[in-house]
Amino acid sequence: MKTRILMVCLGNICRSPLAEGILKSKIDPEKIYVDSAGTSNYHIDECPDTRSIDIARQNNLDISSQRGRQFSAKDFDEFDKIYVMDMSNYYDVLSLARNEEDKKKVSLILNEIFPGENVEVPDPYHGGADGFKKVYQMLDEACEVIAQKYQ
Ligand code: 4NP
Repeated sequence: MKTRILMVCLGNICRSPLAEGILKSKIDPEKIYVDSAGTSNYHIDECPDTRSIDIARQNNLDISSQRGRQFSAKDFDEFDKIYVMDMSNYYDVLSLARNEEDKKKVSLILNEIFPGENVEVPDPYHGGADGFKKVYQMLDEACEVIAQKYQ
């Protein structure tokens, strides 16, 4: 059975599309399925932010075919593990959990590299390209650990 991993941020156009693309580049798709979603309905069916597409492209990844979608409670049934970017995403996702099993699936993605520290992946939306570069580096490190863990 494939492990199913979902990456979640607010808009599903900046951070989680990068997390999806980066993790996909590190895993065997026969073993792991990766998707992403946003807690908001702001960018449904939209392409990733051009700044995320650009930083991905600079790292030889093409995330341009991804489209935004909104997280829903059904995702707790579809996914084994749900990685969120910040505490706000964490509480939004937990507010839709129906039981303890759902809640246990949710973790801050950077806790994979800084266990228990609750470090957030900052929202780069209102900043410049430098913020996207930092987000990329953080997600790349975390996804390296996640890929090893579930491979
Ligand atoms: P993301 O970034 O959660 O990493 O996709 C954002 C994208 C859009 C908005 C906020 C954050 N927004 O307010 O539209």
